[in-house]
Amino acid sequence: MPATESALPPDASSMLALAARSMFHLFSSMSQGMFLVDKAGTIVWVNEGYRRFLPALGFSSIDEFQGHPVEEVIPNTQMRRVLETGEPILVDLLTNKAGTFVVSRIPLREEDGQTIGAIGIVLFDQPETTLKPLIEKFALLQRDLDDARRELASQRSRALLHGDGGSGQRRAKYTFASFIGTSAAALEVKRHARRAAQSSSPVLLLGETGTGKELLAHAIHLASARARGPFVSLNIAAVPDTLLEAEFFGVAPGAYTGADRRGREGKFKLADGGTLFLDEIGDMPAALQAKLLRALQEGEIEPLGSNRLVPFDARVIAATSRDLPALVRQGRFREDLYYRLNVLPLKLPPLRERRGDIPALVEALSEDLAQRSGEVPPELMPDALALLAGQHWRGNIRELRNVLEQLAMRSDSQRVDAAEVRRVLAETGVEAIAAAALPPAPEGQGHAALLRPLATQVAELEGLAIAAAMAETGGNKLAAARLLGISRATLYGRLQGAT
Ligand SMILES: Nc1ncnc2c1ncn2[C@@H]1O[C@H](COP(=O)(O)OP(=O)(O)O)[C@@H](O)[C@H]1O
Ligand SMILES: [Mg+2]
Repeated sequence: MPATESALPPDASSMLALAARSMFHLFSSMSQGMFLVDKAGTIVWVNEGYRRFLPALGFSSIDEFQGHPVEEVIPNTQMRRVLETGEPILVDLLTNKAGTFVVSRIPLREEDGQTIGAIGIVLFDQPETTLKPLIEKFALLQRDLDDARRELASQRSRALLHGDGGSGQRRAKYTFASFIGTSAAALEVKRHARRAAQSSSPVLLLGETGTGKELLAHAIHLASARARGPFVSLNIAAVPDTLLEAEFFGVAPGAYTGADRRGREGKFKLADGGTLFLDEIGDMPAALQAKLLRALQEGEIEPLGSNRLVPFDARVIAATSRDLPALVRQGRFREDLYYRLNVLPLKLPPLRERRGDIPALVEALSEDLAQRSGEVPPELMPDALALLAGQHWRGNIRELRNVLEQLAMRSDSQRVDAAEVRRVLAETGVEAIAAAALPPAPEGQGHAALLRPLATQVAELEGLAIAAAMAETGGNKLAAARLLGISRATLYGRLQGAT
């Protein structure tokens, strides 16, 4: 075939050079703008397209823009990183005072691989509109995922109880059924909580850490008329004081320059139509206490940097592990706010005041842990259970859960005895206290508990007696057998094979 003028160059390296040049021109014309920096990060070239961004960046001409270190003229740019690492950032979102952009950053290398500069490309500006189909698809998938997660969570919470709630999620996941316990104290608190769910006044949950305040807040929300609305939680102790006001009330658009210039919704607004759970309310700084009081009294909030009051519709549930009346006496918590919150106070009993619930809790918590780890929960021997029931449980159910998790992880047999529990207690820093005698049946079942197969009841009683004897003798099997008037062999048999 005769050669024409438009034929490809014959050798590979010229072809590559041509390809590179073509691609450069393609990008230069297809993209919204392009610029080059040298090794020092100084802007050395800007194409025509990029000119449109200059006014928003504060420049009137290309001449004025060139010659500056890149981060001085393009806020938040990552070009320096590309120069330093020699690695491209093929797709990224850049937000600065000029807007939000989809950008690409590519290092320029010499033959020997040395980075001698970098090229910055603005692929799209206003990604909200240019990438709309993609973002919409993403949002749809995200929504599907959220729905699936929620469904899974509610299925689980129906079947079993959950672990620590964490904070920030917008859906409640515990119901009253997740609150395990049939002791008089547990039933009493549940009864009050159900009643609180019917009302729209603020609820104040009091009790030591790990007693289930957060769980109960979820349950109250789900049993209330607002169950379909969001459940938003804010742990006041976990947020720096300086950021709390914005977290509570939000930030008006334009209040700040930079990333927050679009404004941000506060938790009060996010909880609209639902419940706002304010955890560790006792840790609230004084200035904010005044603002919260005003919000609760007026039903209106004032976002930071705005001078407009916006009404909100959120039911407040507050919780604290601190002695709030004492804080009021010391002048560290406003009395008027305390009364405002204390409309429906609920006191959660510490675990040591409802030891009878421990076997049921152990059962439910172990089941939940096993579900999460995908393993069969270990079975606790009666002496192990009795030992757990005797502890002080400063961290209450959270601490019990932690000990059970350690037990499941460390025990290599399916059966866990008191010795093993003692070891884990020591390792986790719980000071072991002698075992407690458990009541023969959960309180509240009374009569029904007696109308079960006698063999089961006898076995249960036997287990408890053995546990008590083992605890009394510090695990000395010979002494325990003597105490119970049985042979050592019988005791061994019971300890190994007993239910
Ligand atoms: N009555 C209960 N039944 C079952 N699990 C509980 C109960 N109370 C608390 N828990 C569990 O114990 C842990 C701590 O509870 P949480 O509600 O966070 O306590 P608090 O907010 O009082 O510190 C969580 O994993 C929770 O699911
Ligand atoms: Mg808590």
